[in-house]
Amino acid sequence: MKLFQPVTIKSMVCKNRILRSATWEALSDHDGYMSEKQFAIYRELAKNKVGLICTGYARICRDEYPNAGMMGIYDDSFIPQYKRLTDMVHEYGGAIMMQIAYGGTKTTYKTEGRIIFAPGNIPERSTNLSGVPMTVSDIQDLVGQYADAAERVKRSGFDAVEIHGGHSYLLNQFLSPYYNDRDDEYGGSLENRYRIVDEIIKAIREKVGNEYPIAIKITCSDFFENGLSFRESLAICQMLERSGIDLIEVSGNIHGKAQKMIGQEFDGHTIRKDGYFYEYAREIADAVKVPVYVTGGFGNPEIMETYLHESAIEGFGISRALLCEPDLADRWISGDMIPAKCLHCSQCRTPEGNYCTVFHGK
Ligand SMILES: Cc1cc2nc3c(=O)[nH]c(=O)nc-3n(C[C@H](O)[C@H](O)[C@H](O)COP(=O)(O)O)c2cc1C
Repeated sequence: MKLFQPVTIKSMVCKNRILRSATWEALSDHDGYMSEKQFAIYRELAKNKVGLICTGYARICRDEYPNAGMMGIYDDSFIPQYKRLTDMVHEYGGAIMMQIAYGGTKTTYKTEGRIIFAPGNIPERSTNLSGVPMTVSDIQDLVGQYADAAERVKRSGFDAVEIHGGHSYLLNQFLSPYYNDRDDEYGGSLENRYRIVDEIIKAIREKVGNEYPIAIKITCSDFFENGLSFRESLAICQMLERSGIDLIEVSGNIHGKAQKMIGQEFDGHTIRKDGYFYEYAREIADAVKVPVYVTGGFGNPEIMETYLHESAIEGFGISRALLCEPDLADRWISGDMIPAKCLHCSQCRTPEGNYCTVFHGK
């Protein structure tokens, strides 16, 4: 099956087209250092033949804390620990990338007593939190923090770095006409709203060199009135290509709500049961030359195989189904093609860490 064929993205070789999409485990300590429980999770995924493992989002600033138990990558003290992690994954022949993120106002966690940046003055829709509008100098500092974090990612032995550009976090808010009410060179036209992302990619590229893969996870549509439309997202993907991105992971921001939205239409595309954003990603993959992966709602290998043949999509991100069955990739590769057990019920976030509460208890 094509699903189990390798993919090469610059210096990175993935032994199949299954990506463990970024999954915050809520198991790091307060400062962002990994726990042994987390090492065990990554060992399990690598041992069970996931082609590319993406870490949960790692914070690039010490004071930026969108969620409890996140990983950190804001200084060099993390490198030895991540070296241990990447060596472990490589011993199993796996590939691993780190997702780096600045969260922003989509948080309810420890919101007092710290500066939380936003593009402008619009409160986040789910948390109702307003941030501090960024000055141009704040933006330049953040670009530098992204680049420094990416350099640490490379020095830690990760095969690639992924920028979190989706899910209503800060970069998604810059891109979105709903959240970005700036009237300077970082707001207004799509080119202006995209500027911060372009600067981050170019600053990272300077630090990591031409052969190192830089990925980005994007939202294909904000899925609300006056938000980022699919047409704009498509144009953003073409801009990403010009900025030198190496992999685009297409996502959205509806995972918790997906069961209710299946079958609905947005921007002329349908939310599918098997792969919510497949139709969006398919069009993006036709419009750019860089590899496109799509994440959200996957769990049936036969359907993924069909999608690989009828579109230019290169691979699939899976999060919840791998919390439920960490051995899923190995099971499929070994010939048991029964779809994932995961119900996509999104009950996997708990205060004691994120795990499948339906099939695993604790
Ligand atoms: C517990 C949990 C943690 C997640 N953490 C992240 C994260 O750190 N970064 C990210 O981009 N997406 C994160 N996601 C979203 C997933 O990567 C994925 O986009 C979403 O769950 C849809 O894919 P699925 O249907 O295969 O679960 C998380 C999802 C879950 C369930």
